[in-house]
Amino acid sequence: MAEELTPETPDEAEEPIKQRKNGLYPGVSDELAENMKSGWADTELTGLAPIPQAAETAARRAALSARFPGERLVVPAGNLKTRSNDTEYAFRASTEYAYLTGDQTHDGVLVLEPVADGHEATIYLLPRSDRENGEFWLDGMGELWVGRRHSLAEAEQLLGIPAKDVRELTAALKEATGPVRAVRGHDAGIEAALTDKVTAERDEELRVFLSEARLVKDAFEIAELEKACASTARGFEDVVKVLDKAEATSERYIEGTFFLRARVEGNDVGYGSICAAGPHACTLHWVRNDGAVRPGDLLLLDAGVETTELYTADVTRTLPINGRYTDVQRKIYDAVYEAQEAGIAAVKPGAAYRDFHDAAQRVLAEKLVEWGLVEGPVERVLELGLQRRWTLHGTGHMLGMDVHDCAAARTEAYVDTTLEPGMCLTVEPGLYFQADDLTVPEEYRGIGVRIEDDILVTEDGNRNLSDQLPRRSDEVEAWMAALKG
Ligand code: GLY
Ligand code: MN
Ligand code: MN
Repeated sequence: MAEELTPETPDEAEEPIKQRKNGLYPGVSDELAENMKSGWADTELTGLAPIPQAAETAARRAALSARFPGERLVVPAGNLKTRSNDTEYAFRASTEYAYLTGDQTHDGVLVLEPVADGHEATIYLLPRSDRENGEFWLDGMGELWVGRRHSLAEAEQLLGIPAKDVRELTAALKEATGPVRAVRGHDAGIEAALTDKVTAERDEELRVFLSEARLVKDAFEIAELEKACASTARGFEDVVKVLDKAEATSERYIEGTFFLRARVEGNDVGYGSICAAGPHACTLHWVRNDGAVRPGDLLLLDAGVETTELYTADVTRTLPINGRYTDVQRKIYDAVYEAQEAGIAAVKPGAAYRDFHDAAQRVLAEKLVEWGLVEGPVERVLELGLQRRWTLHGTGHMLGMDVHDCAAARTEAYVDTTLEPGMCLTVEPGLYFQADDLTVPEEYRGIGVRIEDDILVTEDGNRNLSDQLPRRSDEVEAWMAALKG
């Protein structure tokens, strides 16, 4: 009796079982341990088709290989992060790892090993759980608790990359000689194994390369961004349909409604949804979303669905909660719309990246001078940046797997570059009159407007990927009226 209650697993000393779920510490009799080892069907899958982006990920690895000949390159997916005790935060693989492999499993690591004519890629993954040592049902990471994983042979077929057991990687890296670069910040265990072998400066060059490689999207990526925008548009429609429920509760109803669409059609939201009603619209990253939703106010909704392959939209609409803009809301909205039109028109191949920002800022500065909020001429306002009291942020950024994509790209490759077909960027001017801004007429105070769309640079200009959603004020009103029935 006493023996049965002793919290020990079979041969614990030899075969450590790291962790148990739910605080339950099962007493395991020898008979049960033996029983659990067998009687399970072989579920190995064969003849699996490669993932749809296998050709693209191979081309991306080839470009990476060409940039760093003769060096070992280590790109981790990252590890689970504990939320409390034995629960973890939702996992999202590192962008670099998912970009190069198409895989999204935690603890995975891509290694490019230098060989005579380039590199040999290997993906290191957690294999299927062992049935012999009880890991599959006694370990908190066992498949019985967290779900079946692909076997290494299955992963090879799916990803088109030879796969090995990641639990052997740390020792192999410690042993390895020769130059190494690693993507940092995702996997402390891997970084520890590489101590003394990598340097921050060399690793930064790898990070920069992988950021700049994503500036121009391939066909797979463009299709994913289209999907993200289409789902996002449906999410915005969902929100409009339940605005009365949000009025009865809070901005959280809007956040939850959009999140449902993101989870059902995609992986997640690509960033915390900004569901900003009334004066909250003037707080640029309002993600608390716990405020009241009142008829007569505006709702600034900035949200994006991230697809299952981790590409996100980034879209903003500023909607009249009761379906009609007031005169002053419309005046401010239409000014932002005009600025966005000017910004979008400046997105084309060969244009300077900064052009769309300058075009939108000029329109906003003109409006601010016209309304008497700042003394002209417009050139002086722009030169001194005086419009920025109310425009606050840049007019856009690259978009892709990260909402602020390619963030490690060098200035000369990003903001000082010219646009090329396949680049995708947001155009998102705004005007924000803080509730306590005594320099503007009282009727402006607490009004914030942003309009944001996802614009793909094409051979002959651009294509608005988020144009399923109306932008002009009268079209927004007609769209809302139709959705509300
Ligand atoms: N949603 C963040 C941004 O618009 O940049
Ligand atoms: Mn944005
Ligand atoms: Mn946004």
